[in-house]
Amino acid sequence: MSPEADAVLARLLPYPEDGARADGPVAVDATDRLLLDEAAALIRQDRDGVVVIGDRFGALTLGALALGARDVRVHQDAITAEAALSANSSRASRTLRAGHERTAASAPVPHEPAGPGWTGYDRLEPRLLQGARLVLLQLPTSLAELTEIAEHVARYADPAVTLLAGGRVKHMTHAMNGVLGASFVQVSASLARQKSRLLIAREPRADVGPLTYPVTARLTDPEILGALAPPGLANPAGLAVVAHGAAFAGAALDLGTRFLLAQAHRWPDLSAAPATPVTPRPDPDHLDGRPVAVDLGCGTGILATVLALRFPGAHVLATDRSAAACASAGATLAANGVRATVVRGDAGDSLPLPDGSADLVMLNPPFHDRAALSTDAAHRMFATAGRILRDGGELWTVFNTGLHYRRALERAVGPTEHVAQSPKFTVTRSLRKVLNDVS
Ligand SMILES: C[S@@+](CC[C@H](N)C(=O)[O-])C[C@H]1O[C@@H](n2cnc3c(N)ncnc32)[C@H](O)[C@@H]1O
Repeated sequence: MSPEADAVLARLLPYPEDGARADGPVAVDATDRLLLDEAAALIRQDRDGVVVIGDRFGALTLGALALGARDVRVHQDAITAEAALSANSSRASRTLRAGHERTAASAPVPHEPAGPGWTGYDRLEPRLLQGARLVLLQLPTSLAELTEIAEHVARYADPAVTLLAGGRVKHMTHAMNGVLGASFVQVSASLARQKSRLLIAREPRADVGPLTYPVTARLTDPEILGALAPPGLANPAGLAVVAHGAAFAGAALDLGTRFLLAQAHRWPDLSAAPATPVTPRPDPDHLDGRPVAVDLGCGTGILATVLALRFPGAHVLATDRSAAACASAGATLAANGVRATVVRGDAGDSLPLPDGSADLVMLNPPFHDRAALSTDAAHRMFATAGRILRDGGELWTVFNTGLHYRRALERAVGPTEHVAQSPKFTVTRSLRKVLNDVS
């Protein structure tokens, strides 16, 4: 790699961490370096039309800029990855500028962008890829997500595009070659280096059908029907679910969510007149005194949709860090004829709700961050629930029984009981208790 690119990569941190945790993520991994090494010659030939997808912390985008790419377009599904790129972009901007000045002095170029040199796109969309001649991709873990990305690149990029898709060998499967082969005539694999490998795809197929994603399915699992129709009401026709490739569980019902839905008969009844909270809850205009229910980490929005159908008078909000999840949740709600506020954010940090205003929060927290086990986001979601719930409001959580979250839930929210438990899953109900200082 060029000294300029090495200098930029050396500045990056695995946001929001400082890189000090021995078992924490690294800001630049062997896959980033392999991708950039392979990209260097292509960028030297053609500085424009570079697109980056799935950048973890910004190494691909900032590395490509350091190699001379201009006006890089970027899509990152997780808003946390976008924040990482922004933070690292600021951190590396002086090094990047100094590198460009050195290069320009030896081989003058007509114009360098005044801004960061990249533009973020929060959706996988034609504009992101139009005219792209080089796409750098950190391979996703799911084949569905890879399918949606490959189909977009093949349809909307320049016909001369090269797609360089890199991953850790242990997470790569032969099925990935098949997915790329469905959209590209040529697919080859690089040699492995430091346990990473590239798949290289060229010649987008002309004979492709419509995009596979989003997919729609109608779910009629008994737990969904039971949650939609409180006892005594007519049996509903089920729930339509719309899923983009990167959305958790696709257009199916996750087993944990199923277990949470099976407890719906014990959820608080938001259609009844709200009990007067001990401390009055903030009630901004847009809530109109209606009860407030939140689907935290909404995925395809199944829980949000069930809440909106079960409690038509409630104001429902759904939030996820994933762009694909938010797009799916919006489409799932619409497909079932209900409305909710869907916002993309990290652990609910951008919910348009004042503290102490929610009556009910539903949570099936993540325990993976990409391929790595991680409960960090779950703990931040507990904290958000504790902050947004009103006194007497409830957090309902489902998690793998082995995770023992009860103490953490009690600290973040309040008294927590095990409502249901199986060898695999536990459902808890945490009651928000606001401790008033009476001294
Ligand atoms: C176990 S899935 C549950 C999805 C959905 N509620 C369901 O029941 O099918 C967890 C969800 O949390 C989201 N997530 C992961 N980390 C997050 C974070 N830091 N902030 C917000 N959402 C996050 C994931 O994208 C995923 O959709």
